[in-house]
Amino acid sequence: MTTPLLSVRNVVQEFTARGRGGVKGGVVHALSDVSFDLQAGETLGIVGETGSGKSTLARSILQAPRPKSGEVYFQGQDLMRRRSRDLTEARRQLQMVFQDPFASLNPRWRVSEIVAEPLVGYRVGNRDARVRELLDLVGLNPDTFASRRPHELSGGQCQRVAIARAIALDPALVVCDEAVSSLDVLIQAQVLNLFEQLRRELGLSYLFISHDLALVKQVSDRVAVMHLGQLCEIGPAEGLYRAPMHPYTVALLASIPKLDPGARGKKPVTLEGEPPSPISPPSGCRFHTRCPFAQDRCATEAPVLRELAPGHSVACHFPMPGE
Ligand SMILES: Nc1ncnc2c1ncn2[C@@H]1O[C@H](COP(=O)(O)OP(=O)(O)OP(=O)(O)O)[C@@H](O)[C@H]1O
Ligand code: SF4
Ligand SMILES: [Mg+2]
Repeated sequence: MTTPLLSVRNVVQEFTARGRGGVKGGVVHALSDVSFDLQAGETLGIVGETGSGKSTLARSILQAPRPKSGEVYFQGQDLMRRRSRDLTEARRQLQMVFQDPFASLNPRWRVSEIVAEPLVGYRVGNRDARVRELLDLVGLNPDTFASRRPHELSGGQCQRVAIARAIALDPALVVCDEAVSSLDVLIQAQVLNLFEQLRRELGLSYLFISHDLALVKQVSDRVAVMHLGQLCEIGPAEGLYRAPMHPYTVALLASIPKLDPGARGKKPVTLEGEPPSPISPPSGCRFHTRCPFAQDRCATEAPVLRELAPGHSVACHFPMPGE
């Protein structure tokens, strides 16, 4: 197997939260011992409920802020061990597209200035031609759009500008955090097509984060499921959606009926109540307070990710049978 483009090893991220208005403060265990690899040219989807740590994972990979511990290898270099000023080249190769396209663009700048910004920062020459090329690539006619400002664009057009800016420096990996979540369905499909086209034409890899499981299935080669700061299942998208093995994944998939979770014939699992607080996560398996299959062992012993089918790993003492 070739060296992964990105290798995340035992990453831990914690925050200190002040208690207020009756809400308890303390250490937020936002990521606990998260490990996975991403191969060049691959799209890895990340799903999980709100607060499960998806955005924290994205930011921790980008070292903003640095994780508390662990290793993040990108193109063979451990980003955690590099000084901030030595991260410049990695930041060029590792770009991010956020949820709210309008908020991510400077409202006073023209589209041409927004797309040129990273080129200026990295002193890339021949910028006007490159900006035109990038706008063409993302499906915006440069003659029409280069001089516009964000308020003169639709949500989909704003996101295309954000994507042009993200690919300006020829990155190897683009991290998309809920990048199409605020767009309506038709525009979503167009932007997803654009991501796919850029993957083919530029050889990009994506970390595609979304709470929308149907969307993630559509774009991902593999999918990782997060629960309360941990990875509970990771595997090929096709197999994971057809026959999820972690009870949490089964419950997540069952919560979207049109996906047909592949849980037919199995005892239905429902996700009841709020997820526990990451300030005081449950002992043992963090899902045990909501898992209908929990046994005594689950409350005391934390399950580790085990490969139960080729490329398909699950952290559960009593996994579902799978395929
Ligand atoms: N800077 C911070 N300070 C304190 N707590 C934080 C901070 N950033 C994130 N958290 C907490 O870490 C946990 C994970 O948050 P995160 O934003 O990564 O979740 P998420 O999966 O992206 O959720 P969503 O689907 O809502 O975007 C949450 O409990 C959140 O409140
Ligand atoms: S380890 Fe136990 S509690 Fe956790 S998901 Fe598996 S069966 Fe449920
Ligand atoms: Mg988030």
